[in-house]
Amino acid sequence: MKKKTVAILSILAVCTILFGFTGVNKYFIITSEDVAVKIPKGFPKPHYRFKNNKPSPEIFVLGRKLFYDPILSKDSTISCASCHQRIAAFGHIDHALSHGINGLIGKRNVPALQNLIWKDAFMWDGGVNHLEVQPLSPITNPIEMNESIAHVIEKLKHNKQYIEEFRAAFGDTSITSEKILKSLAQFTGLMISANSRYDKFMRGEDTFSMAELNGLEIFREKCASCHEEPLFTDNTYRNNGLKPDTALKDKGRSAITGDQFDDYKFLVPSLRNIEMTYPYMHDGRFRKLKNVLDHYGSPQNFTPLATKEMYEIGTLTEQDKKYLLTFLLTLTDKSFIYDRRFVDPFVQ
Ligand code: HEC
Ligand code: HEC
Repeated sequence: MKKKTVAILSILAVCTILFGFTGVNKYFIITSEDVAVKIPKGFPKPHYRFKNNKPSPEIFVLGRKLFYDPILSKDSTISCASCHQRIAAFGHIDHALSHGINGLIGKRNVPALQNLIWKDAFMWDGGVNHLEVQPLSPITNPIEMNESIAHVIEKLKHNKQYIEEFRAAFGDTSITSEKILKSLAQFTGLMISANSRYDKFMRGEDTFSMAELNGLEIFREKCASCHEEPLFTDNTYRNNGLKPDTALKDKGRSAITGDQFDDYKFLVPSLRNIEMTYPYMHDGRFRKLKNVLDHYGSPQNFTPLATKEMYEIGTLTEQDKKYLLTFLLTLTDKSFIYDRRFVDPFVQ
């Protein structure tokens, strides 16, 4: 190689490294643009509107740190992210039931965290109705984090870095449960997934194959009455034909309403990022999407408690299931899962 070429190549290499690095660093700094609430085209008005909790980079960054910090649990072993893993759209990869403090096993499958500001109720039974209150449940649950909010505050008050971060976020150094909950709500509330291939198709930016189009058509006919677009849930409680689990004895919605009519009904989950959030259902009983589709396609196996709409699905042929599966995979949103804003700050 000529000397000149070598020189040019070296300059190029140095530039790539330098600009590459500064680019990455810049990306890690959260700006006000990063925390601006952008309602995706075609989405309804959100339920949680960040009223009295205006997003700011400092509050978001504090919420993110708290989400990833095991300090919220009694023995500092479990963080929110231990159960809600980013690579599983903030569900828990490959665990049917949640795993909490001291290796204790919970009663339910960890749901994905996404598009939470459109939900008016949380948990599989809708037992929590406000995004800001939601973290109190895992923090105080004896088999999840087994901690008291008063003790969390005590621990944070002894941590110089946190004192500074609360000052940066809220203007003074006092640490209160309200500030903890608001910052967590900013972090989880901004987890918006709206950039899957399905979304791009709907916006006219991408095309679907014939198989995906067929899948979408079958989905709209048989599934969308509960898994309503664009959020893929209608936020109602239903029984989708699963036989009750005799070991867990989880009656779902009726535990909240006290109404027998609600026995074994569960909140319709969103199907966004469904490829990443296995296993499936409130108790994680199905490992694969194929198992889920086999269930929906076999009405003869439904429990008599099944919501009547379930029988409108009818049998699904193997070809229908293939098309449905192909469509469901278009709901994977890589730009959400790899969004740098949500990466664990302790490993950055
Ligand atoms: C031990 C595992 C575990 C930990 C730790 C945990 N969660 Fe969860 N999370 C779950 C499970 C399981 C559910 C569903 C519970 C239910 O339906 O009763 C859930 C539900 C939720 C929901 C409701 C999602 C929806 O769509 O309804 C939110 C939001 C949430 N968790 C946020 C958090 C935050 C914030 C933290 C940390 C303060 C946290 N979680 C810690 C296991 C965990
Ligand atoms: C009558 C309402 C209803 C219809 C129709 C319906 N579902 Fe569901 N779906 C639910 C409910 C409720 C759950 C959660 C049930 C549970 O965990 O007990 C669920 C769960 C799922 C899950 C698991 C999600 C997760 O995160 O674990 C998948 C996948 C799914 N449905 C796909 C489909 C497909 C595909 C169709 C059409 C063939 C369909 N559903 C039709 C109500 C419905």
